[in-house]
Amino acid sequence: MSENLPFNERYIQPPYKILYRESLENAENFWKGMAKELDWFSPFDKVLDESNAPFYRWFPNGKINIVYNALDRHLKSRKNKVALYWENEKGESRHLTYGELYNEVNRFAKILQDLGIKKGDRVLIYLPLMPELPISMLALARIGAIHSIVFSGFSTQAVIDRINDAKAKLVITTSHTMRRGKRVELKRIIDEAVAQTPSVEKVLVIKRDEEIELNEERDVLYQDLAKKTGYKKVEIEETLSTDPLFILYTSGTTGKPKGILHLHGGYSLWTYLTTKWVFDLKDNDIFFNTADIGWITGHSYIVYGPLQNGASVLMYEGVPDYPNPDRWWELVEKYGVSVFYTSPTAIRSLMKYGADWVKNHDLSTLRILGSVGEPINPEAWRWYFKNIGNSQLPIVDTWWQTETGGIMISATPGLGNYMLKPSANGLPLPGIDADVFTEDGNAAGTREKGYIVIKRPWPGMLAGVWGDPDRYVKTYFSKFKGIYYPGDYAVKDEDGFFYILGRADEVLKIAGHRIGTREIEDILISHPAVAESAVIGVPDPVRGEVAVAAVVLKQGYQPSDELKKSILEYVRNNLGALVVFGGLYFVTKLPKTRSGKIMRRLVRSVIAGQTLGDVSTLEDETSIEELKKVIEEFS
Ligand code: WT7
Repeated sequence: MSENLPFNERYIQPPYKILYRESLENAENFWKGMAKELDWFSPFDKVLDESNAPFYRWFPNGKINIVYNALDRHLKSRKNKVALYWENEKGESRHLTYGELYNEVNRFAKILQDLGIKKGDRVLIYLPLMPELPISMLALARIGAIHSIVFSGFSTQAVIDRINDAKAKLVITTSHTMRRGKRVELKRIIDEAVAQTPSVEKVLVIKRDEEIELNEERDVLYQDLAKKTGYKKVEIEETLSTDPLFILYTSGTTGKPKGILHLHGGYSLWTYLTTKWVFDLKDNDIFFNTADIGWITGHSYIVYGPLQNGASVLMYEGVPDYPNPDRWWELVEKYGVSVFYTSPTAIRSLMKYGADWVKNHDLSTLRILGSVGEPINPEAWRWYFKNIGNSQLPIVDTWWQTETGGIMISATPGLGNYMLKPSANGLPLPGIDADVFTEDGNAAGTREKGYIVIKRPWPGMLAGVWGDPDRYVKTYFSKFKGIYYPGDYAVKDEDGFFYILGRADEVLKIAGHRIGTREIEDILISHPAVAESAVIGVPDPVRGEVAVAAVVLKQGYQPSDELKKSILEYVRNNLGALVVFGGLYFVTKLPKTRSGKIMRRLVRSVIAGQTLGDVSTLEDETSIEELKKVIEEFS
C-alpha cells in the first residue's frame, strides 16, 4: 500500500467503509441483511420499533433464542468441535465439544424446570469461572428464564442488593474457588445473603471436590439432580426478540446499582456481529478472553459472541501471576491461542515481572490482541505490542460498556480495518453513529475534549434498567435529550478516530472494574463507627485507579489504625475485595455546600494536591484546611 495515501486510505479497507456507510445511509436494509445471518423461529415485523423511544425495541415480533444460535445450530457441522476449554491454577482441565455442551445445557435446563423455574423468572448465579457458569446461563436462557450473574469477587451486601432488586427465585452457587492456592469461600457468602432475601426459594449448589454442608430445606445438590435427571433434550423456548435474556448489575452515580437489561434478539445480533468484525474469529481460532463471566466482557465475549460464531473459547479460573507470572503465556502456548483479549491492568501487573517470562513461550499462534475496560496508557500499550504481539500484531482497543451489550468503537480486523494509532480506540463499528458533544450539546471541534454520545439506537443497546424506567431515561437520555449518553470523556481526531479519556461521572474504574463512589460510601456509613464519608478515585500505576476515602467518625469513636483496618475489612466483607483503597483519612468534617451537599470535587483536589478552583459555595473553609493537614501527616 502506498505511503502517499492518507492514513485512513492506507489502513482501512473497503469492507469496513462500505458496511459503515451502508449501515447509516440504508439502515433498515443493513440490519435486515445482518439479522439473516442468525436463525429465527419466525421472522420479525420490522427492524426497529421506535414508537416508545427511548425504549427502542429491535426486531419486534420476531422469535429467536440466543441459545439456538449459540448451540443448536452448530450441531450439524460442529458437534465434535471443542466449544469450551477450561483450566484452573493447578493445571486441571476440562473441555466440552459443542455436542457435549449442548447435552450439559439441556440436562441443566431440565433440572431448572423441575425446580419450578419458568420463562421470565430471575435466577442469580454466583459462580467462579467454572464450566457450570456458562452451562447454567445457557440453560436458563434456553427455557426463557432471566439470568443475573454476580461477579464472585463481590461480597454479601452486594449479593443481597442484587437478589432483592431482581427478586430472584433461585440462586446457583458452589462451595469455593481457588485464588493463589487459597480457598475463597463462596457458599458461605450465599448462606449469609439468602438470610436477607425473601424471594429466594432454593439454592442450587454445585459440588466441587469435597463434601459440602447443606441446608436441608433450602439447598439442593446439582450432582444429585443431574444423576437422577440424566441427559434429556429440553424443548427450546421460542422467545420473542424482545423477551429478556439477562440482567447485569453495574454501578452508576447513586449508591444503588442498576440492573442493565438485555433482550434476546438485539443482543444476539450485536454480540454475534461484533465478535466477527473485531476478533475476526474463524473456525480454527482459539479465543482466550481473560475476563470473568461475571462482567459484561465475559457474557458477550466468552459466552454469547464466540459461541454464536461457532468458535473455541478458553476460560481460565485463576490469576495471571500464579503460580508464576507466565501462567497466561503457558496457556497461550499449550492451547495455541490465536486471539487474546485482556485488560490494561492485567498488562501493567505483568509488566513489572519483566519480559523474560514471556520469552520462554511460543506465542506464534497469536494473530490479534485486544484490550478493554479502561484507557490503555502508552507504556502498557508498547509492552503489550512488543512482547506479546512481537511488534506486529494489531491491538484492538475496544471501547464499550455493560449498557452497550457489545463493542462500539475499535479497529475491526474482520472488516479489513487494521488501524493502529497510539492511544486511539478507533472508528465506530458499522451501525454506530458516535460523536463528541460539548457541555451544551454541540458537536465538539477536532481534538476538542467533550462527551462521547451515540446518536441512534443499535441492536446491542440496553433495553432498560430493571424495575426503574425513569432511571433509564434520566441516566442515558437526558443530558442530551433523546441521545444516548455513556458518561465518558472523549476526543475525535481529524480522521474520525475516537480516543476515550475516562469517566465523566462519579464512577471509578479500579483494575477495570466499575464501581460507584456512592456505592462505597453507602457501605462505609453502614459501619457502626462511621458518620459520613466522601470517596474519590486517584490514579494508580497498576490498577489505573484506586479509591480514597475521607471519613467522619460518629461521636464516641477515636481515629486509630485498628479502626481504619476494621473499616477497610468491613468494606471488603460487604462489597468485595475489588474495592482497593489507596488511603482512608479521618477528619472531623467534610467540605460541604451551604445546602449540605458533600463537595467531592474539593476532596479530590486536596488529595491530588491541585488548586481548589471555585470555593464560593463552600460552607466552612476549615474543613479543607483540616483535610490538607491530615493528608500531609499520613502520606
Ligand atoms: C466503562 C464501561 C466494556 C466491557 C468492560 C467494562 C471504560 C471500557 C474502554 C477502553 C477506555 C474503556 C469506559 C466505559 N472503558 N473499555 N477500551 N478504553 N475506556 O464495562 O464495567 O460497563 O465499564 O469502561 O469508562 O464507560 P463496564
